[in-house]
Parts: sequence; structure tokens; C-alpha cells
Amino acid sequence: ERGGYEHFMLKEIHEQPQVIRQALAGRIDEKGRVRLEQVFNEHVWTEIDRVNIIACGTAYHAGLMGKHLFEKILRLPTDVYHSSEFRYGDPVLSPRSLAIFVSQSGETADTLAALRLCKQRRIRTLGVVNVIGSSIARECDKTIFTQAGPEISVASTKAYTAQVIVLSLLALYIAQVQEMPGVRVDEAVAELTKLAERAETCMELEEQMKGIADMYRNMPLCFFLGRGADAHVALEGALKLKEIAYIPTQESPAGEMKHGPLALVQPGVVAMFGATEPDLRDKVVSNMQEVKARGGTIIAVTTDDDTVTSRASDDVIRVPTCVYPFMSALLSIIPMQFFAYHVARLNGCEIDQPRNLAKSVTVE
Ligand code: M6R
Repeated sequence: ERGGYEHFMLKEIHEQPQVIRQALAGRIDEKGRVRLEQVFNEHVWTEIDRVNIIACGTAYHAGLMGKHLFEKILRLPTDVYHSSEFRYGDPVLSPRSLAIFVSQSGETADTLAALRLCKQRRIRTLGVVNVIGSSIARECDKTIFTQAGPEISVASTKAYTAQVIVLSLLALYIAQVQEMPGVRVDEAVAELTKLAERAETCMELEEQMKGIADMYRNMPLCFFLGRGADAHVALEGALKLKEIAYIPTQESPAGEMKHGPLALVQPGVVAMFGATEPDLRDKVVSNMQEVKARGGTIIAVTTDDDTVTSRASDDVIRVPTCVYPFMSALLSIIPMQFFAYHVARLNGCEIDQPRNLAKSVTVE
């Protein structure tokens, strides 16, 4: 049932091109328009003045990508909360806000409790959920399923990609309903439909990542850094490595390094930089130089048209260039997943069932 793969995690990483297709399936019409009208009536979207995305772990990281898109595409103020903080934090909720709950399992206790709090306060709720029939899917006013298929590995991989695709579709759908000037929904949709093929190209990076994993498998600490969407993906890349390979990680926006974390850099420390955002790349390169000057090793994940990061990096990994930079950032999680997987494998870690963790956290 692992389809010839040694672990479910590896199988699920490789499923991502297909997962992208499935997440888009039935949601784009022949004119290239987004079809999500079963979610809420069109007028609801014009009433919404604020979005709160509530989730845990990997789903929270997908939520950060959602915020990036909602604010960039729609200029719609969006906050992302860890479910546990939201529910005990006495949140200020506008009656016109929408609460989005992102969850693979649909059973995460803190996310479910946060959902019930929003329902008590009569806030509109929307689930982005993988498991059909799960508690969160049943209790949200509406749910969009991520259609990623069962995810067995405790470390989430394909669910993340599907969650980000669904949040992108949703942002584009809202732009379409509101006929937002300046947002070329058809062009963005066309790019989304090319993403599965581009993710397939990223599968070829496994060999390279295996080699890099072998070189650095004994690293004492691994930084995960980036700016913009790359900073969000960095959090997810770091979670994978610590979760299954038990390597300490330090993840933060690259611009925060000078404000403290840089003190941890010394020879032997590895820094994985996301540099897929072309407008932010020069700044990322200066952060790379700061780490390198203190003896750190730099691994850059960038796009195939980038000519600047290689001079500051020890290893360069390239994902396809997309017209919309967040899509390249999303693809950059694939090599990071391979990196975590191969470090864990080479170090003899239990991959699908990491110590101390459960697939679905149903206790608070
Ligand atoms: O089922 P959920 O998406 O609600 O689960 C949320 C987190 O528990 C989950 O993403 C966790 O962080 C994963 N182990 C990460 O790989």
C-alpha cells in the first residue's frame, strides 16, 4: 500500500503533482473561471471585511500563505492564529469577518474548539479540510475539501500543498466575484493549472537533495530563512526537519537574523534559504553573505532563472520559475521535504511515526 516506496512520507511527497490536479479538479470551468459558488452566495463575499485563519502546525503554515494571498490579491486584512492561542486569547471578532479553519484531519482538538467559539459568536465559518465527514468539516458553515487523499505519514506533506492550492483558488474566486480591477483571474488560473507539471519537474530534485542530505546529516543546527512567501515556506521546511530528523532548527524571516539569531551561526551550522521571490532576492543574498561570513554553510532554494544567489551559496537548488512568485515559493517546499526525509533516513530515524507525535492531535 506504500506503492513501492519505502515510507508513506516519500510516497506522499511524490503524490504532490497529482494532488495539485485533484485540488483543482471541478473547480475551474472551460473559460478559466474559478467555480466555488457552492461555498457562499456571491453577496456574502462583499460583506466580508476581515479574515481570520485558524490552524495548527503545517496547516497554520498553509494559513500564512493564505494571508499572503488574501492581502496581496484582495487587499483583504487577514490574520493567522494558532488555534490554541486563538481560543484562549479572547479574540476581537468583527461580525463581518470570516473565520477559516484549515485542517488535514478535521479532528484537531484546538482547531475544533476555536471553531465552536466562532460559532457561538455567530461568525461565518469556512473549513479547508481533507478528511470528509470529520468533525471540523461537519461543523463549519461551509467546507472546501482539499481532495488530497489519505495522508498516513505523521509529517504532513501533500496536505500542505493542497491547502495552499485551495486558499489560492479561494482568493481568486473572491477577486472574480468582486470583479476586482487589476486582478487577472484567468491568467492566475492558467498558471495554477501549470503547477502540477512544474511539481513533477521538482521530483527530479530528489537525487540532488539526497546528496545534500548526506553531506549535512550531522549538522548541529539548521536555519530556515526567507522573505515574503519564502519566509512562510521556511517555517514549514524547518518543521519537517525537526519533526522527523530531530535536528534542531531556527526558522525566521531572513531580515530578523541581525536581531538575534545570527549569534547562533558558527562553522558547521547550515542555513537553508528560500530565494524564489525575485523582488526580495538581493536582500536575501545579503543575509546569505552575513551567515557565510560567520562560517555557516548556505543552501539556496531558488528559481531556474535566478543568476544572483549562486555567488553566495554552497549549494543551489532550482525550482521552475512561475509568473506568480508565490507559486515558485510553494514548489520550493518539495526539495525541503526531500531534504528532511533523506536526513532522517540516513540517520536511521523512524520516518512515518516520529517519536512523541501523533497524526491527529485530539487532546488539547
Ligand atoms: O490535522 P491537522 O491539519 O489539523 O493537523 C495539524 C497539525 O497537527 C499537523 O499539521 C502537524 O503539525 C504535522 N505533524 C506537521 O507535519
